[in-house]
Amino acid sequence: MKAKARAHTNIALIKYWGKRNETLFLPMNSSLSITLDRFYTETSVSFDQEMTKDQFYLNGELATDQEQEKVSVFLSKIRRYTGVDSYARIESDNFVPTSAGFASSASGYAALTAAAVKATGIELSLKQLSMLARQGSGSATRSIYGGFVEWQKGQHEDGSDSFAVPILEQGEWDLRVLAVEVTTQAKKIFSREGMKRTVETSPFYSGWLETIERDLAALKQAIVMRNFTKLGETLEANALKMHATTLGATPPFMYWQSETFQVMEVIQELREDGIEAYFTIDAGPNVKVICEPRNESVIIDKLTQIDTVNHIYTCRVGPGITYLDR
Ligand code: PMV
Repeated sequence: MKAKARAHTNIALIKYWGKRNETLFLPMNSSLSITLDRFYTETSVSFDQEMTKDQFYLNGELATDQEQEKVSVFLSKIRRYTGVDSYARIESDNFVPTSAGFASSASGYAALTAAAVKATGIELSLKQLSMLARQGSGSATRSIYGGFVEWQKGQHEDGSDSFAVPILEQGEWDLRVLAVEVTTQAKKIFSREGMKRTVETSPFYSGWLETIERDLAALKQAIVMRNFTKLGETLEANALKMHATTLGATPPFMYWQSETFQVMEVIQELREDGIEAYFTIDAGPNVKVICEPRNESVIIDKLTQIDTVNHIYTCRVGPGITYLDR
């Protein structure tokens, strides 16, 4: 009853922002992401009849009570789904610099889902795995697959049609994502709290929802046509719109810092000089820049000149979950 799996992080080009059901992690809107090769989590799960509670080790150390509790609550969802009733030892190693603004929750819950289900010996489809991963962290839904991935929000209130669907395989469009780290300070408002406050109080939230399907259709068309300009314009506008909703919340909040603006401005300047690059930002101050391989080095050179940039991590399109033999 033991298995080990690896899952990669992803970056949303059309953001998931807002839940309609907080228990089942059902989103208000569909989203679309690229899985990244550079950052991942490896997790092993071993169920043991003798154990009297779950034990979670993170990066080689026994996790805090709060982390233990979260993982245990999630594992109980998998136990209920698969009918397995024993506790487990979970060992998780994160190869994600959380400082760069990549939450390890996407790769973390995707790897945990894959390893735990495999350890039960029960065969589930990738679609079923994505629905389970969703109930640990929304963005984990998409990390089951590699390449370009859509998370369809679904209609049903039981969550049975809210899962990820692969749009393009890993090797089908070679793009680069530059994760630009401007600060290593922990974020003040986690995505869970940020989206809840926005949904409940921001008058701009309805504008976000009204335009999502249009953005999603434009992005999917850009992917089919391999139209980078269209892809970039759509993803950047979508990220700006998500952040605009936070400014309308009560109380208002924003994830950007002055260093964030500096990077955004440089990307705009590069475009004025004819070099195509587009940015997206999640629930934190760091920026991710999307570009084509041919422009990667000139963009890195320019970003390196900003003195508040700590580090730039270059990512390529990555794979879906894989199982690791012991
Ligand atoms: O599922 P979470 O809690 O990692 O929330 C993700 C929220 C964003 O990163 C801002 C958008 C997204 O779709 O990943």
